[in-house]
Amino acid sequence: MKIFLDTANLESIRKFNDMGLLDGITTNPSLMSKEGGNPKDGMAEITKIIKGDVSLEVLSTEYSGMLDEGRSLRNYGDNVVVKVPMTPDGLKACKSLTAEGIPVNVTLIFSSNQAILAAKAGAKYVSPFIGRLDDIGQDGMHLIQEIKTIFSNYNFKTQILVASIRHPLHVVDAAKIGADVVTLPPAVLDKMLKHPLTDIGLKNFLTDWEKLKSENPDIKV
Ligand code: E4P
Repeated sequence: MKIFLDTANLESIRKFNDMGLLDGITTNPSLMSKEGGNPKDGMAEITKIIKGDVSLEVLSTEYSGMLDEGRSLRNYGDNVVVKVPMTPDGLKACKSLTAEGIPVNVTLIFSSNQAILAAKAGAKYVSPFIGRLDDIGQDGMHLIQEIKTIFSNYNFKTQILVASIRHPLHVVDAAKIGADVVTLPPAVLDKMLKHPLTDIGLKNFLTDWEKLKSENPDIKV
């Protein structure tokens, strides 16, 4: 399973990339807006830091605008994946950009039907938003299971990019289903790293070593 970070925050991107955890990045206009500043600088920097796929989203809602924006976003790097919304124009843009060799991530997927159509239009990724479904009382993870079954039935090459993840259990469940990618807010990745028994265990190791050192002042590792 690939891990993407769902953020435009450069500090978080560098932090987790330095640990070797990141296979890619997803951004959206809200995440860009949260960081402020000139988004062009942010996009240029992210595509430089990250070797894997970086999803950058179009803002136009009609076909020709999406095509223009998709082509120009691609100038940030060969690792740019153009993110288009799950709309008729978005699917048309997906088909055209894919035919030009530009990979596409179809975003705002909330049903298996939408995922099937995005795959048929040639998307490299579909992004089902599971947390937002959970928020309205629907089972987001059930959607991932359903899409996984359908894509496997027909050997679709489109990858399932689980989005709108809210907590570490979402990640484990997505991995058990066999989703291709999870995109995580930095806070979720931080939580995945931690376990109280790790902290207690490390503290005890160091205390025991100090005891040994007090008996043998000259020892070194
Ligand atoms: C995915 O690409 C989106 O950026 C993201 O996962 C949306 O998550 P949210 O529902 O937390 O805004």
